[in-house]
Amino acid sequence: MNELCIRPGRVEDAPALRKLERQNFTDPWSEEGLATSLASPLYYIRVAEQTGEIFGYLIASRVLDEGELLRIAVSPDKRVRGVGKALTRAMMEENPATKTWRLDVRVSNYGAIKLYESLGFKAVIRRRNYYEKPAEDGIMMMLES
Ligand SMILES: CC(C)(COP(=O)(O)OP(=O)(O)OC[C@H]1O[C@@H](n2cnc3c(N)ncnc32)[C@H](O)[C@@H]1OP(=O)(O)O)[C@@H](O)C(=O)NCCC(=O)NCCS
Repeated sequence: MNELCIRPGRVEDAPALRKLERQNFTDPWSEEGLATSLASPLYYIRVAEQTGEIFGYLIASRVLDEGELLRIAVSPDKRVRGVGKALTRAMMEENPATKTWRLDVRVSNYGAIKLYESLGFKAVIRRRNYYEKPAEDGIMMMLES
């Protein structure tokens, strides 16, 4: 099957997510932490898969009617083809009880900011030195439905 598939993450996906974490972030989650999150009902996790290969994923948490997008990444060779948007749209559509979504993003992360803005997220506050490795300001963005 060659079509892009967005499906719930499974514990056995932890090594693939760990690989993407290392490719995309300077503070990657451990494989153990990913496996624990994949097993937990507290997290909403979706992976993007094609021909058996996972090349994108999204991790969010939800409490009552509030949700937080914690992690999203797409393999560098599969970017700007709508995968990140499909993952984020799935998060919003599959959690209708979540009325407010929030996330944090590095000020320099142009591609991610474009993705979030394209879905209606708005910048609400700039947080000084929110990030480490390297130190950088963050922008908190929110979407209210
Ligand atoms: C951020 C990220 C997940 C986006 O995934 P993606 O699959 O490339 O995004 P999409 O193709 O779905 O793009 C969604 C929209 O953002 C735009 N966009 C995405 N990346 C862009 C870029 N680098 N430059 C300009 N626009 C960009 C697209 O053109 C598209 O706009 P449209 O819907 O108006 O046409 C991806 O760049 C990534 O993995 N980055 C590294 C990890 C990361 O930074 N995660 C976010 C941490 S907050």
